[in-house]
Amino acid sequence: MCGIVGYIGFKEAVPILLEGMEKLEYRGYDSAGVVFPEEGRLTLIKRAGRLNSLKEKLNGRSYAANIGIGHTRWATHGKPTDSNAHPHTDCTGHFAVVHNGIIENYINLRDWLQLNGHTFRSQTDTEVLPHLIEHYYNGDLVDTVLRVVSKLEGSFAMAVVSSHEPDKVVAVRQDSPLVVGLGDGEYLLASDIPALLKHTRNTYILNDGEIAVLEAGRVWVMDRNGNEVDKEVLDVKWEAEQAEKGGYEHFMLKEIHEQPQALRDTLSGRISTDGVNVILDEVKITPEKIKGLKKIFITACGTAYHAGLVGKHIIEKLARLPVEVDIASEFRYRHPIIESDSLVLVISQSGETADTLAAMREAKRQGARVIAVTNVVGSSVSREADDLIYTWAGPEIAVASTKAYTTQLVAMYLFALYLADVRGTVKSEEIQEILLGMKKLAAKAQSILDNTVVVKDFAQEFACSTDVFFIGRGLDYAVAMEGSLKLKEISYIHAEAYAAGELKHGTLALIEDKMPVVALATQEGLFDKMVSNIQEVNARGAAVVALAMDGLKEVERVAGKVIYIPNTHPVLAPVLTVIPLQLLAYHTAVARGCDVDKPRNLAKSVTVE
Ligand code: M6R
Repeated sequence: MCGIVGYIGFKEAVPILLEGMEKLEYRGYDSAGVVFPEEGRLTLIKRAGRLNSLKEKLNGRSYAANIGIGHTRWATHGKPTDSNAHPHTDCTGHFAVVHNGIIENYINLRDWLQLNGHTFRSQTDTEVLPHLIEHYYNGDLVDTVLRVVSKLEGSFAMAVVSSHEPDKVVAVRQDSPLVVGLGDGEYLLASDIPALLKHTRNTYILNDGEIAVLEAGRVWVMDRNGNEVDKEVLDVKWEAEQAEKGGYEHFMLKEIHEQPQALRDTLSGRISTDGVNVILDEVKITPEKIKGLKKIFITACGTAYHAGLVGKHIIEKLARLPVEVDIASEFRYRHPIIESDSLVLVISQSGETADTLAAMREAKRQGARVIAVTNVVGSSVSREADDLIYTWAGPEIAVASTKAYTTQLVAMYLFALYLADVRGTVKSEEIQEILLGMKKLAAKAQSILDNTVVVKDFAQEFACSTDVFFIGRGLDYAVAMEGSLKLKEISYIHAEAYAAGELKHGTLALIEDKMPVVALATQEGLFDKMVSNIQEVNARGAAVVALAMDGLKEVERVAGKVIYIPNTHPVLAPVLTVIPLQLLAYHTAVARGCDVDKPRNLAKSVTVE
């Protein structure tokens, strides 16, 4: 995620761009920049760091330009440096682009442009855009942008200005948000509505494939074939704070709803077009080393640790490699024996968690190669790891981790399948079947989010509980642990997760009349055993809410309440199963009047041991 802004009108553009970027900093804040036409050329000012460091560079200077575009970045391709900051320009400096999203075919495009004499100055995917525009420019910026867009694969929203046509901003939307603000004699452009509200509430919400042209005195929108589109004006009713949360009451709920997009972005460019292979260009371990591996250690904290538990199941199942998972704060104190044929995988959304960093450093001290799964480019973990798998979830603001978890799971699947392919431990047909299932996850996640009434009802009942138990087997047990953490951290209800088969060895003694038990029963091979475990708690008076895959109706015989999950390959079920659990925790916490986004005693990033 990044934030794009644009302005054309009668006021000084730069202060308006900066105000808009400030409202979009929640979308990314590792570098920022603006560009505007001035005396026959483009003036480009950009800097690594938060928006304030760009403001320092601008030093309060005023610029006469009434047109410009700006960007606040959340790094994906290339570290947060001055040269990777947006806007990006072509070789001549006459075209500048800001971009949000991922250009999946940028490597091929960059190679082709370099062969054609273009010189690149950044490591970003974005930089291909101004060079392509330079290459195809025919005296008509709109026509050229239409041509360039037809060559792009991936998701993007972008805005373009040129000193050759200093009277317009051209903007394109494909799978990344973009909104046009219709002011009085001025037009604005932004990735999200909060950046527009100070100036106007009248907007055009661009659809995928649409191109907007903002000129002094008029704005028009076309489809990808260049046909003008008749847009409906949307009058935004939200107040500023509500708008920052996308109309949701809390960031956590917004982030839960962002999961389909986060899943799509994390998968983007990582499955070959024929759906046969995983592409993990960032992982540089040689096939020989992968074949010679004897063990993998996974270490992480909290939710990331729970993603690691799912990772263990699937790496062992698919790649046939033993995996040990450690809570990072325990890892180095248990004196782990890390041999040269072991690999250490660390998982951290923020990339700054002190315990995870310490575990990673211990692994490196013992000579291990470390792969990191992280969401923050340029974070400490990303700088110190040998190999990286980024989750493209965008900034996560709520303390309770949601979209980071589901994208970490996707990273686990990609890595497990990658290992399995190299090691020849899974037939290619099964790899293809799982990859196909992964491509469908975003749509299935969306269908869960479109139908949340049942979960909300259950949450009302949970709100009065003092204890809740989560039970499951296999992968469901790992997800039960995450469901229980979500509930306790934001609703302050005592919640525990247990391996369902273990109940009779002690825990069953805790089950009392009407005690809520969330039973996860999505794993086909373990379903009958789970039904027996549900009967065990039923017999002690528990009030069971079961989660099962669509079609597994037998569960209704033993559970009073059932939440069905769209059918998927069993190994992929955790990505979907966790979503109702996140919602259950969220609505329970809201019903109890808790501060959902900032739960007591907790911080988003734990940078102390
Ligand atoms: O940034 P990290 O992924 O390293 O953070 C790890 C944990 O602190 C984090 O997942 C924490 O458990 C969340 N609050 C859970 O929702």
